[in-house]
Parts: sequence; structure tokens; C-alpha cells
Amino acid sequence: MLDHERVTIHTGSRSRLPVIVAVHSTALGPAAGGLRLWHYADWRDGLTDALRLSAAMTSKFAVAGLASGGGKAVVALPEGVKLDAGRRREVLRDVADVIDSLGGAYATGPDVGTGPDDMAVIGETTPHVFCRPARLGGSGDSSPHTARGTLAALRAVSRRLYGTASLNGRSLAVIGLGRVGAGLARLLAADGAALTVTDIDPDRRRIGDELGAVWRAPDEILAADVDIVVPSALGSILTGQNVAELRCRAVVGPANNQLATPEVADLLHHRGIIWVPDYVASAGGVINAITTELHHAGADAAQARVGAIEETVGDLLETAQRLGRTPARAADELAARRLSAAAPR
Ligand code: PHE
Repeated sequence: MLDHERVTIHTGSRSRLPVIVAVHSTALGPAAGGLRLWHYADWRDGLTDALRLSAAMTSKFAVAGLASGGGKAVVALPEGVKLDAGRRREVLRDVADVIDSLGGAYATGPDVGTGPDDMAVIGETTPHVFCRPARLGGSGDSSPHTARGTLAALRAVSRRLYGTASLNGRSLAVIGLGRVGAGLARLLAADGAALTVTDIDPDRRRIGDELGAVWRAPDEILAADVDIVVPSALGSILTGQNVAELRCRAVVGPANNQLATPEVADLLHHRGIIWVPDYVASAGGVINAITTELHHAGADAAQARVGAIEETVGDLLETAQRLGRTPARAADELAARRLSAAAPR
């Protein structure tokens, strides 16, 4: 069943690439969600990604208490295709045309494969864009805020498991050292955590070395003997098979769509591993962008909203325990309540 309000697929008039925009829900407000510029074996895989990611954005905003709806844009690049600057501009202008044609139902932001400079190009065509560079009036890179929000979620989990929010002396495995993962690893190292890290790009090992982290191969790190595993790369990293190999007590990270299937949340729960829903832990970036750009909050107020993820996660863990259900279910129910309370439009 398609439960999205609207999904548009265009062949970009300049780039000839598939441009997919999925608006999952505008029940809480106009939809927002990042633009993913990524490689897919088949463009239909990009569509599947857009559908799942946009639905997660709806829950992300609902649990974060923001009056925005869930959406996502995906440009499906064929495997092996590299975009030079000129081609990249064409792609971005194609995306901007599609967004503009939606008349405000969806606004974009950065995601895997895009950043503030790309948002600047999109902003030449349409006002429906977040996170342009500060010099153009945007809130800039969202990844430091996503990293800080994830740290807040980790603190709540640490408090629950160890009675202290401090991560000093804890061991964590950070999977993926992209913009968010690397920023988060730095925050964790500064807090005194012992890190094990990996990335599919071996060049990123340098970042781990800087932080005194142990490097593990991507296919070995899930089973690392650490307190908390921190998925910070692409999705579907937790499967029915590999959950059995985990040795950690919690999985909390900024990656979107961490579970290969929703049932994996139950498997984690049965193993006694706390899983904080990805859409809760990863909300810092959108919280900062939306509160500053849409609601005109000052930097401090926005920071405080990002930091409040610690309370949100603490409350969810408590509710889950009290009602004897997974944090995933507690979060889904909270999102559903907020969505059904919204006036139908
Ligand atoms: N990539 C962000 C996320 O998944 C999307 C985003 C960031 C959208 C900032 C708008 C502004 O949450």
C-alpha cells in the first residue's frame, strides 16, 4: 500500500537523470527532508529509498515536536557515474524545478551526497530549501547539529544503562565517518570515550588515527566488543542475521533507516539491546534548520531544542519500559498520536 500523499518522478530535463520527490505527509505542516544524491543499481531502488526515508521524516518531525511533514528527494545516479561540477549543477537545477513545481508542499535540505553549496544552487531557482550557506541567509551545514543531537540521545542511553550521562570511559563503535559520523566521533573523543571506527572509504582511517581510535574493517565492526554501536553511514545495517552477532548493550546512531526490516527492533529487544529509533536520534539537523530558518529562533534556542533530544529519548525509554514494549514502538505510538491530533487538511 502506498501511504504517501504524493510521489513525483521526473527525468531531469538537463541531466536526463531520475529525480524522485516523495511527500509522505503534510498533516503537521509542509514537508521537509533532505536531497540524497546517491548511486543505485536501478533507479527503482532510489524510489524505494525515497519512500522509506520520507516516511521516517514524518515520524522524525512528529517526535521532535515540529510542525513539519515528511518528505525526501532522491536523484538516482547509475553506479560508477561521477558528476563533474557542470553536470552537478544541471542535476541540482533539475531537482530545484521539481521542488518549485510543488509550490511549497516540500522543501529540501542536505542529505547523503549533498551539502550547503548544493542548497545554494537549488536556492537560485526555488525558496523551498534549507541549509544554504550562512552568507546567503541559510543555516549552513546541518551535520554538526545532527552530531550533537545524536550525542544527546547517547547521553540519555548512558544514563539509563550506567546511571550517568557522561560517556567518559565508555567504548563506542562508530560505523561511518562521513560529515555526521566524523563530527560525532570528535565529540565522543572529546568526552573521553574510547572509539572503534570504520568507513567504506579507507582514506577516512586518518580521522580515526587523529582521535586515537581503533580501526576495524566495515564487515567486522558490528560484532566489536563495545558498550554502544553507533550507525552513522547508510541504512539497513541491522538485519535479522547480524543482530545475533552484536555484543553491545545499545545501538544509537544518526544513520537513517538502520533496520533492514521493522521486526529487527523486536530482535534487538529480545537480546536485551536498547535501540533508539534512528528518526529520534538523528533529528538534530532538521531541528536546528527548521527552528532557525522557519521559526526564526536564535542559535541558543535552537541548540537547546537539539539538546532536548536527551529528554525525549529518556522519556521514550521510560515509557517503553513501563509499558513493556520496544522503544521503537513507544516512538511510533508517540508519532502516531501527534499525527492524529493534527487537524486534517
Ligand atoms: N538529512 C536530514 C535528515 O535526514 C534532512 C534535512 C536536514 C532536511 C536539514 C532539512 C534540513 O534529517
